[in-house]
Amino acid sequence: MNMIRSELKFRDLFPRYATDLYPTVNYSEELCDTLERIRGEIRLLARERHALILAHYYERPEIQETADFVGDSLGLGLKARELLETRPDVKEIWLCAVRFMGDTIKVILGDRVSVFMPEFAGCSLVGSILGIDFDYRTDSAEEISRRLLVEQPRIHPVRKWVDEHPDGLVLSYMNSDLESKALSYAVFTSRNAQKVLEYVMRENPGKPIFMLPDQYLTELVLRRAKIYGSTVIRPELVEIFPGLCHVHKQKISPFVLDEAMANYPEADLLVHPECGCAVDCLIRAETGQLGSRKTFIASTQEMIDYAKRSDTARQFIVATETGHVYTLRKNVPDKQFMPVTPAATCEFMKSTTLDKLFKSMEENNSASYEVNVSEDIRKRALGAIERMLSIT
Ligand code: 13P
Ligand code: SF4
Repeated sequence: MNMIRSELKFRDLFPRYATDLYPTVNYSEELCDTLERIRGEIRLLARERHALILAHYYERPEIQETADFVGDSLGLGLKARELLETRPDVKEIWLCAVRFMGDTIKVILGDRVSVFMPEFAGCSLVGSILGIDFDYRTDSAEEISRRLLVEQPRIHPVRKWVDEHPDGLVLSYMNSDLESKALSYAVFTSRNAQKVLEYVMRENPGKPIFMLPDQYLTELVLRRAKIYGSTVIRPELVEIFPGLCHVHKQKISPFVLDEAMANYPEADLLVHPECGCAVDCLIRAETGQLGSRKTFIASTQEMIDYAKRSDTARQFIVATETGHVYTLRKNVPDKQFMPVTPAATCEFMKSTTLDKLFKSMEENNSASYEVNVSEDIRKRALGAIERMLSIT
């Protein structure tokens, strides 16, 4: 699952795999050499501090190439649990991802390992739970992330739902605030959303369920259950929270996908379930409107596993954050991956730079980068997070 750091030099790697994904970054030989030098310094610091660096697939290529482990959100959680059991020598985790993944890792690790993040990056899904409005075209990712750390709704929408549904159960996505997770019966990710919902409905027949925050992901799970005749999932019991990820909704619309399909008539589709086009793709695929073009709607990790199979296409349009296109190209070098649009970048994931990682690790006092979770909320959230880790 984890991506092996490449043997290739950055100047041989990034111009080949990353240039078209980041029109704002010029991966010149000079920049590549500078980044590679910083990577060397970070690796020395990691050894000195008995630290491991973990990164999400949406992080910048140079972060992915510096990390010890790169994974999807479920993979990061599973890795944290594995470290608890197998690596008593590890004292610190440095996580490059969004803040809400960091909280989850801290809940899993408890006091045994300190968790740091070079950037407490936000996520628009969490903004939609907390009712924080922003416009990614005008507001900076840093400012939105700061607001997500300090602003709290007067009445938390999940608390309100729980109070109104005493026998109800909440299922929250990895990209949710910690209070939502603490109020949840189970946490899920895009990789195990369907399995978690099936498990919860089987164990708690007839109970109302609130699934949050990504509307498209929940709709997709329910639509699939109907199409494939699930005997366990009862969509009428599930209330859908109307939250959306700005990258997958606004930047990856059905229109953008149609344009990419016109440009690459032979390519199959890899689509993340948070996309604005996911349910549309499912319906078009099921009703034969996509012709011989195959559509695989799945989480980031599942996309890699699928593309690696020898019986799948040679060419794919990838409808998710562009960092993952780099990951796919690296992991499956004999196939071709095109971003549905190079505009599909997550400003939050990209706000962690190699320079920031280096400077935060180098500082004598790293306390301001540490993820702290109170024991009270940790205890309340742990059960739901453990359920997520047990259903893979
Ligand atoms: P994954 O669960 O596939 O890692 O996705 C996380 C995410 O942030 C989606 O935008
Ligand atoms: Fe959040 Fe969307 Fe960015 Fe994923 S891509 S971290 S869901 S804003």
